[in-house]
Amino acid sequence: MIGEIEIVKAKITDVKKIIEIEEKSYKDPWPRDVFIIDYMFNSSSDYFVAKSHGKVLGFIGLWYEGEKLHIINVAVDPESRGQGVGTMLLEFAINLGVQKGFDLVYLEARKSNVIAQNLYKKLGFKEVEELKAYYQDGENGIRMEKILRSKSDDNFRNRNFL
Ligand SMILES: CC(C)(COP(=O)(O)OP(=O)(O)OC[C@H]1O[C@@H](n2cnc3c(N)ncnc32)[C@H](O)[C@@H]1OP(=O)(O)O)[C@@H](O)C(=O)NCCC(=O)NCCS
Repeated sequence: MIGEIEIVKAKITDVKKIIEIEEKSYKDPWPRDVFIIDYMFNSSSDYFVAKSHGKVLGFIGLWYEGEKLHIINVAVDPESRGQGVGTMLLEFAINLGVQKGFDLVYLEARKSNVIAQNLYKKLGFKEVEELKAYYQDGENGIRMEKILRSKSDDNFRNRNFL
């Protein structure tokens, strides 16, 4: 059983564990230097980790793209899967997107990655596009999005001077 979990901004000392989880999670992981460069030098990205008793259980990577929040990566250590950590990371990103006023949050998943797609659907993401040969091995991707703010919200805000 996992103890209490907190989601916090990843520190430089967490990056080694993030890379380890990445490499355990994907057959085509991001190269290590790409991770480090994105973490250190991309001012439009943020990484958050789920921690229990100081141990990193999973992470989520976000890119801020104008009105859109892009979940660029989410992975949980294989030992800690199936216990709600992925859900917590996604819910954290959705709440952050709402707080920061993004119109929508989106992501891509391999067509074969039914587990991830189930998680996203559970949290209200809808499939919007199939991306032909999106991955290096030729597999198609599925783009999914969740609307966070509608035009009517803006009208409401304007009318009520919120
Ligand atoms: C996808 C991933 C992040 C989910 O993390 P997790 O901590 O195991 O997820 P949770 O325990 O919060 O489960 C969330 C939902 O995922 C789905 N899910 C999880 N395990 C599943 C399984 N074995 N079979 C089917 N669906 C599953 C379910 O919809 C589940 O919701 P439920 O528990 O209410 O049924 C994790 O499996 C992972 O790291 N996979 C490898 C990396 C990856 O594929 N990332 C996504 C790239 S698009």
